[in-house]
Amino acid sequence: MRGGRRTGSPAAPPFPFLMTQNDNHIPQHVAVIMDGNGRWAREQGEERLYGHRHGVDAVREVVRTAAETGVRYLTVYAFSTENWGRPEAEVDGIMTLIAGAILSELETLTGAGIRMRFIGDLASLPEVLQESIHTAEATVIPDDKLRMTLNVALNYSARWELTDAMRRIGLRMKAGELTPEEITEELISEHLTTRGIPDPELLIRTSGELRLSNFLLWQLSYTELYFTDTLWPEFGREAFLEALREYGRRERRFGRL
Ligand code: IPE
Ligand code: IPE
Ligand code: MG
Repeated sequence: MRGGRRTGSPAAPPFPFLMTQNDNHIPQHVAVIMDGNGRWAREQGEERLYGHRHGVDAVREVVRTAAETGVRYLTVYAFSTENWGRPEAEVDGIMTLIAGAILSELETLTGAGIRMRFIGDLASLPEVLQESIHTAEATVIPDDKLRMTLNVALNYSARWELTDAMRRIGLRMKAGELTPEEITEELISEHLTTRGIPDPELLIRTSGELRLSNFLLWQLSYTELYFTDTLWPEFGREAFLEALREYGRRERRFGRL
C-alpha cells in the first residue's frame, strides 16, 4: 500500500486495496496480543528491555494504521497478571516504559482523535503508572473529533475480569438489586472491562504462539483468530494491513449456514 488516501475522488474508499466482496471488511474492534519482544531482542544480541522499547515503536505504527483504516477500537495486551512472574528488573522496566510512553504519546494521539482507555486490575499498578493512566483518561476528545479508542490491557487477565464481574454481580444480588433470572449475557458483558464496546471481530497474535494467554476469553467467543510468526517489534503497518486483508477473506458464520 503506497500513497494512502486518494485525492480528487472523494467517494473513493481511503483504502481501496482492502476492498473485498465482503462489505464488513474493516473490523470495528481489533484485539492484539503483542508477543515476541524478548525473542526479537535476543536475535539482536540485546537485553529483553531493548525489545520492549522497540515494541512501543510497533504499537505507535499499528495504532496510527488502525485509526487510518477506520478501526474504532484497538485493544492491546501490554501486561498480563501472569507477567508479574518475570524477573523484577524486567517488570520494573516495562512499567517505567509504559508510564513514559503513555505521557509522551498523549498529545499526538489526542491530536489524531485517538483516546486511551485502560483495562485490568489498575489499582495494583505502581503509582507512577497509575498517574500516567489518570492523566491520559482525563484528556477529553470531543465526540466529533473521536476517531478511535486505544484500549490498553494492563495487569489484565480474562479470569481476573470474569471473577471480578461475578463478584460485583453477586454483591448486587445480595443488595437486592438483581435476581438470578436477571443474569443475562448482556448483563455479564456490562460488568466486564469492555462494557459498551463491541466484541473484537479480529484477534492478532504475533510471534508464532498459538494460544490466548488469558486474554478476553468472553469477548473472543466468535472472533476471527489471526496468528503470525512475525515478532512484535517487527510488526508494522504492512503486517497490520495484511491481517485486515486476511480478515476480509474470512467467512463468518456464527453457527448458521
Ligand atoms: C510481549 O513480549 C511483551 C510482554 C508480554 C510484556 P515478550 O516479553 O513476551 O517476548 P517473548 O515472548 O519472551 O519473546
Ligand atoms: C501474553 O504474552 C501477554 C502479553 C502480550 C502482555 P506472554 O508472553 O506473557 O504469554 P505466554 O507466557 O507466552 O503465554
Ligand atoms: Mg511472550
